[in-house]
Amino acid sequence: MAFNKDSVAGTFIFSAILCLCCSFMITGTAEVLKERKLDKKRSELKRFVLVAANVDGDDIDQLFDARVTPLLVNLDSGNAADLSTTEILDFDDRMAAINKDTSIKPKKDLARIKRRANQARVFKISDADGNLASVVMPIHGKGLWSVVYGYVAVKPDLNTIEGMVISEHGETPGIADFLNDQAWTDTWQGKQIFDADGKPVFAVVKGGAKADDIHGVDAVSGATKTGTGLQKAVRFWFGPEGYKTFLSTLKTEA
Ligand SMILES: Cc1cc2nc3c(=O)[nH]c(=O)nc-3n(C[C@H](O)[C@H](O)[C@H](O)COP(=O)(O)O)c2cc1C
Repeated sequence: MAFNKDSVAGTFIFSAILCLCCSFMITGTAEVLKERKLDKKRSELKRFVLVAANVDGDDIDQLFDARVTPLLVNLDSGNAADLSTTEILDFDDRMAAINKDTSIKPKKDLARIKRRANQARVFKISDADGNLASVVMPIHGKGLWSVVYGYVAVKPDLNTIEGMVISEHGETPGIADFLNDQAWTDTWQGKQIFDADGKPVFAVVKGGAKADDIHGVDAVSGATKTGTGLQKAVRFWFGPEGYKTFLSTLKTEA
């Protein structure tokens, strides 16, 4: 019997073949672009780390390779996993924070993140002579509407801020643009995270920080809730459920 392409069966068979071809094309394209997407993510990450650490230069890959040592640190033990740079750069921190097997519920969820991944990707930065120049650590916490993500770099005293950058946020455009304004992020430089007792007391101060405030930066009027969220994120991540143990380990290594 000759195949009738205008029959109901013909229409179904044609649709099925078309769907199959389309899904092969989509899967194929996703597979081809996978490596390019990963490359883009790695480059973005490298750029944020270098910006936070105040390391300038044109060739991001070359600068990163020469000056940055990435570590995947267990936040409870303070110890680093033995992994290659690529493995560490490709570590999916957000997935690790969602997965119950690789994360915990913080006892004191100051940053309002619900779950905290057991491991964090941190970066040791060296100067041109190979000496430790800073340590860059990712932070995140709830602002007013969204989770604000960023990186904070501390100097070798593991207390004074070398620099910071906000990598992602979903706060109100216009109102919270200061998060990506270098004039504001530069005000973090030289501020100290911990007080004399080792308690994280860094502050984003409503009404403006006093000139002699070594822990405070100015909040921005109309967006103090975003600023407060960021302050809490810093205090959480540099506290006992964040980088405290890792920083103590680093101090004993020095
Ligand atoms: C449409 C709209 C969007 C807002 N977006 C933000 C925001 O992204 N971050 C923030 O801290 N406050 C934001 N606010 C302001 C807060 O809701 C709050 O009123 C404000 O923080 C109080 O003023 P203050 O920051 O000068 O204390 C927004 C207000 C409105 C009406």
